Formats: sequence, structure tokens, C-alpha cells
Amino acid sequence: MEVYLDNSATTRVRSEVIEKIVEVLDKQYGNPSSLHMKGYEAEKLMSEARENVSKLINGDNEGIIFTSGGTESNNLALIGVAESLRKKGNHIISSKIEHPSVLNVLKHLEENGFDVTYLDVDKTGKIDLEDFKGAITDKTIFISIMAVNNEIGTIEPIDEIADIADEKDIVFHVDAIQAAGKINIDVKKQKIKMVSLSSHKIHGPKGVGALYVDKSVRIRPIIFGGGQEKNLRSGTENLPGIVGFGIASKLAKENFNDNINKLMNLKRKLYQGIVSEIKDIHLNGPDIEGGAPHILNISFAGVRGEVLLHALEEKGIYVSTGSACSSKKKGQSHVLKAIGLKEDLIESAIRFSFGIFNTEEEIDYTISVLKEKVNFLRKYKRR
Ligand SMILES: Cc1ncc(COP(=O)(O)O)c(C=O)c1O
Repeated sequence: MEVYLDNSATTRVRSEVIEKIVEVLDKQYGNPSSLHMKGYEAEKLMSEARENVSKLINGDNEGIIFTSGGTESNNLALIGVAESLRKKGNHIISSKIEHPSVLNVLKHLEENGFDVTYLDVDKTGKIDLEDFKGAITDKTIFISIMAVNNEIGTIEPIDEIADIADEKDIVFHVDAIQAAGKINIDVKKQKIKMVSLSSHKIHGPKGVGALYVDKSVRIRPIIFGGGQEKNLRSGTENLPGIVGFGIASKLAKENFNDNINKLMNLKRKLYQGIVSEIKDIHLNGPDIEGGAPHILNISFAGVRGEVLLHALEEKGIYVSTGSACSSKKKGQSHVLKAIGLKEDLIESAIRFSFGIFNTEEEIDYTISVLKEKVNFLRKYKRR
């Protein structure tokens, strides 16, 4: 049996998406900038995709800027706004548990004259609103906080942050790459000015994403060229990818309630199974009901996460030790460190992340394999 439980790293592409991508590659290969019919058809497909993606977050179509993925969206948001507002101030607020595609951009901005406050989080991964309010100065121009953490599934209080940011006229950017399709994101209701999205986390193709930019935001490009995407992201558009992202967004929106119920049930089932079958486990991050529906992070005391990952792999089960982006690098998870987890529990953490293709049978199988492997590895260690 093959059980893919690494959906926070990436997801399997839906067949509806694949069909449409193949059709675009084969027949609708025009350049959206061309003035002839083929260009017009391509431009029409771009508009449809823009509408589908904007609907996922209840934004205006014109606010969607297509990019090469979540990493580029975060780079564009942070550098693009910081540079355009440099005269207004140089202070940025973010958190210690952001994705590297935010943290490493912030490091770059610090090297270029910006001051960054990295908010602490509590043991569930949540930032404290009082800390946040206290961090705001008259130099603060930008706030970047993720909606859902990719390693432990914490849901940050973005509604409250957005209210305060709006009141103080500070641009608020949300990395919603793990949140889209999993929790409700409504830029109008929530007064969020910028949102980063990525296609491959919602069963779309890799290498395509979007940055939503409210019309009130002043932003500069970080890629220069022919002026596509309202001059904010030059380069011939990845039409097959964008169309695929559009279909994936439409399906994520249409099936939102069913999907989150399904994911939550799978998460509950796996957690309950682990608790009843395996001793000495530690849930990392928020409690089951309070976190995102698709992420479960657990430490199996006395077992190295990496060893368990490969033991599960032998039985066809794919999980992660932390985030995919950092798991190949040496060093401990900055997220698990930030929630105050002890070193040995950080070393024994496994992230299970669910997607719409997972089934209850797969979860039953995973529980039985986990029980066998964890017991074996613990016994082996004691010898
Ligand atoms: C929270 C978060 N932000 C950003 C990214 C980067 O997105 P992409 O892989 O599309 O570059 C990821 C991907 O893992 C993520 O989980």
C-alpha cells in the first residue's frame, strides 16, 4: 500500500487539472501578449484563472499577480513593499516561525537597512496580540504573518492583526500558502492587503503561485522585463501552470467544506489511533480541534524522526520530519525550537499532512505500521 502523508510539502495533482494543462500545452499555446487570435485565447484563459484564484480568497480579479510560486510571492511582497515605502519607515514585524521564504528575505532586508521584529510564539505556535501591539512603532511599514504554520498547523490570529494594521495604516501581508482551501481566507471581510498563494499545495501544478495585492498598496517589482502582470512580474506567463492553478483553486473553493471535514476526520482518526496504540508520544503545536485540518506533528519519544521516516517509507508510507524545505538541511526545526520543545523531542518529531486523496483505510494501515515500527525502534535502542 502507498500512503502519501506529506501533503504540506506538496500534493498530488487532480486529474481535472492535468487534463486542462495537457489541453493548454497541446492546443492553446499562444502568448497572452500576442495580438492575434491565439494570443487572445491565451489571455482569455489567464482571465478565467485570475477569477478562479481571486474567488478562493474573495479578492478582486485585478489584485492577482501570477508568480512562479509561494517563494516568489513572499519575496515580491516583502521586498516590493519595503522598497516602495522606505521613505515612510524601515520597521517590519513578523514572527519567528515563518517559512524560510519569508525569514530569509527579512534577513536580506535587515542587511539593507531595515529593522525587523520577530515575534515570539507560545507553546502552541501562536503569537501574542499584546506583544504584537507593543512592537508597532511610528516607523512600522509592514507586517508579515503566516495564516497557518506549515510544520505544526497553528492558525494565527490574522483577523485581529488585520484590524490593528488597518487602523494604523500599516500594510499587512499574509502567507496563506498552507491556509488556502483549509481555513477561510476572505481578504475583504478580514481587511487583508496582501496574500501569498501557491498552486502545488492545493492539488495544482508546481512552479506557479500568486500574490494578491490590494489596490491601495504601493509596491515595486523585483523582476524587470516586458511589463506583464501589471508591470509587477515580467516574463512570458506560465499559461499551462496558471490555468492548472485556476482549476485547482476553483475545485478547492467548491469543495471547501467537504474537504476540511474530510481532512479533519483523517487527522482526528490518526491522532486517536496513535494515542491509543503507542505510549510516550507528544503532540506538537495546537490541540487537534484548534489547528489546521491537514497537519499533525507528533514526537515519538526515544525514536529519531529521520529513522522512523525511513522505517515508514519501507512500508510505503511517506511523511516528513519537519518542513520539506528544511528537512534536507542539517539543524533543528526553527518552529519546534520556537515553541520551546526540548531537544530530544525535536529530534523525534514527525509531521503527517493530509490531502483529499487520503482514505480512512490508509490511516488504519499507518497506525498499525507506526505501532510496529515505533515499538521495534524503541526496543532496538534499549539493547
Ligand atoms: C508556509 C509556506 N510558505 C511558503 C512556501 C513556499 O511555497 P513554494 O513551494 O510554492 O515556493 C511554503 C512551501 O512549503 C510554505 O509552506
